[in-house]
Order: sequence, then C-alpha cells, then structure tokens
Amino acid sequence: MQLADVSRNYDFASRYYDSLTEIVFGWILGLEKLRSRTVDLLGDIEGATVLDLGCGTGRNFSLLTAKVGKHGKIVGVDYSAGMLEKAAQRIRKNNWQNIELIRGDAAQLEGISGPFDAVVAIWVLGIVYDLEAAIVRVTELMRPGGIISILDFGKSRPDRGLLRWLFPLYSMALKCTGIDSAEDLDSAKLEVKWARGKEVLRKRLAYLEEDHYLDGAGLILSGQKLGQTTEEPAMPT
Ligand SMILES: C[S@@+](CC[C@H](N)C(=O)[O-])C[C@H]1O[C@@H](n2cnc3c(N)ncnc32)[C@H](O)[C@@H]1O
Repeated sequence: MQLADVSRNYDFASRYYDSLTEIVFGWILGLEKLRSRTVDLLGDIEGATVLDLGCGTGRNFSLLTAKVGKHGKIVGVDYSAGMLEKAAQRIRKNNWQNIELIRGDAAQLEGISGPFDAVVAIWVLGIVYDLEAAIVRVTELMRPGGIISILDFGKSRPDRGLLRWLFPLYSMALKCTGIDSAEDLDSAKLEVKWARGKEVLRKRLAYLEEDHYLDGAGLILSGQKLGQTTEEPAMPT
C-alpha cells in the first residue's frame, strides 16, 4: 500500500478499526489470540526497549507493557495520524508512562534511534509498499542479538478450508471497508513479496523460524539478529 493510501485509508478506518478488528479478527476468525503468541516469541523482554512497528491503535500495548515492566520502554511507529491518535487515547486511558509514539514510514524509519532489544510487527509488513526496505531498516535498528517477531498474511487466500472458497466474498468485504487496496489482496503478489522479504530476513538474522495459521494463509516469523549475544532459537523447528 502506497504511503498516500496509508494516510487516506487508515485515517478513515481509525474510527472503526478497533470494533471491526474485534468482530472479524477476534470473534469470526479467532485470530486476536495470536497477538500474545507473537509477543511471547520475543522471549523475556523485561526492561527491554521494544519497537512496535505499525502499532496502529495500540492493540499490542497492554501485552507489551505487561512484559517489559516499568523499566522497559515501547516505541510505537505508524504512518497514519488517525491510528496514532487512537493509540494516544489508549495510552492516556491506561496511564501508561513508558510508551512513545512516532509518526513514521516503516520503509524508512527516519529519525528513529535504536538500538531496539526487540521488534514486533503485527499485520503491517505485508502491506508496506517496500517490504525489503522495511526489513533492512528495522534490522539495522535492532541491537545484535535482538529479537524480531512478525504476525502477518503470507497469502491472502488460504490453501484449504472454508475460507478458501469464501475468499471472493471475503476479499470483496475487505475492499468495501476501504482499508485494503486490491494490490494488498492479490495472493500471488503477496507470496512473491514475502518470498523476497524472508530472503532478506535470513541474510540479516542468525535464524528465522516460520509457522502458519488460517489454513496456510497466515504467517508467523521470528528470529534473532546476528551478533555476539545470539542465542539458540526460542521456537522449536
Ligand atoms: C492492519 S493495521 C495493524 C495495526 C496494529 N499493528 C494491529 O495489530 O492492530 C496496519 C497498520 O500499518 C500501518 N502502516 C501501513 N503501511 C505503513 C508504512 N509504510 N509505515 C508505517 N505504518 C504503516 C497502518 O497505518 C496501520 O495502522
């Protein structure tokens, strides 16, 4: 999704994003529980500085604040001012003191200073207009031995199951929300994008673990940046 579309689509969607996510991703698809699995893949992050890339309305913040504790810090980056405003409201409501919000483009991450001990990117990287640039930039900002955990869609059409056959309906419904562009929903393009993205990740990480959900359409990736403090994989192969 091009940057201009991120602002236009997500500024508008910010008004209903949380309710829609709870209904579709939570109740209907049962995917919201994957957030905690993705955050758990970061391992012990108490006291860590964590980058929440494409943080949106801050739906990961309660999990992250609980894990980093009061000595840790979270930096939420997103390009949509509307989504960031909702994230700021969530922070005020919960009186969280250790979250910083920055408006920025995930493919460039200009003016954002690391190093980060951990990075989490939930349902964002697959729609970034330049996935490879985003991966290069984000891994540059990680400290050696830092962990990255990604929850995304590797394809938009599942390999099997009911949703594979309901895909045209699902895709039409998603387009109607005005959030996703036709490009984001093109399964073949998304597969190629992620094949290249994973190649870049493998070059920059000591290891990359991969898992799937939603009948093969969903992608969970985690890895650790090359460096002296690199540890054994946290996830079984
Ligand atoms: C589907 S939402 C996910 C939000 C949040 N991570 C969550 O799990 O609820 C995708 C988010 O990615 C952001 N986004 C898309 N492209 C971006 C880019 N190039 N740079 C920064 N943020 C981007 C959007 O503004 C939106 O908030």
